[in-house]
Amino acid sequence: MAEGTHAGEIDPVLVIVPTYNERENLTPLLQRLHDALPEVHVLVVDDGSPDGTGELADKFAASDDRVHVLHRTEKAGLGAAYIAGFHWGLDHGYRTLVEMDADGSHAPEDLPRLLTALDESDLVIGSRYVPGGALVNWPKHREALSRGANLYSRIALGVPVNDMTAGFRAYRARVLAALPLGEVASAGYCFQIDLTLRTAEAEFDIVEVPITFTEREIGTSKMNGSIVGEAMVRVAQWGLRRRLGQLRRLVTRR
Ligand code: GDD
Ligand code: MN
Repeated sequence: MAEGTHAGEIDPVLVIVPTYNERENLTPLLQRLHDALPEVHVLVVDDGSPDGTGELADKFAASDDRVHVLHRTEKAGLGAAYIAGFHWGLDHGYRTLVEMDADGSHAPEDLPRLLTALDESDLVIGSRYVPGGALVNWPKHREALSRGANLYSRIALGVPVNDMTAGFRAYRARVLAALPLGEVASAGYCFQIDLTLRTAEAEFDIVEVPITFTEREIGTSKMNGSIVGEAMVRVAQWGLRRRLGQLRRLVTRR
């Protein structure tokens, strides 16, 4: 890629948007995204939303070549939706794959800054927890949970990323092509931690750029106790594996 040009100017960028019951959020989101970046393509990955999000996405796709839809039969978690979206994007030759929530929490207007930063790195994380990052209208208990999850992950894993659970990101396709996506078992939001860890372990460059995360105004969060439980167990397992690996290298002096 030529220096100084960002990915979207040469190859269309694919923005993957997982949806479960986001019907009312979809229209304003697509509007804002294409106002900010007319060139980008969107892949809505819908898990058979009962509220008709998938059908609405199909209507957009029918009249707009930039919009694509992947229909999945049941709600199988954020991680599984993104893995399916990544495969679709890689198969279709996109060079940049973006993750973005459907509910307006991630401002499409911030995306140009993420893409510019990708010129100098392999994964750009839109971060709430670096200087300049912010939270708007997030209930205190959600903020505490998110900060706690990040502190716990950092201590357990030793990866120097401040917002490991962040869901607004831009990956170079070659990163996702290099990772064993078929082995990713994380179903819930710990998928974000999982991919951050895999990207760091594969020695790709990760940068965080500050974003403002604004709590949704329409619909409800899909966060629940089992998502938190999965994250706690998996992060502990990954942490143990990493510590044992360090110990083994120390003992065998490799
Ligand atoms: N297809 C599909 N399947 N989409 C899903 C599923 C699922 O099982 N679960 C959630 N989503 C979609 C939602 O429709 C939304 O577009 C996006 O994933 C984020 O879900 P929310 O339920 O709005 O997440 P949140 O606001 O509570 O959580 C935010 O913070 C987390 C912790 O930092 C998000 O930014 C997460 O990505 C982040 O991990
Ligand atoms: Mn949300």
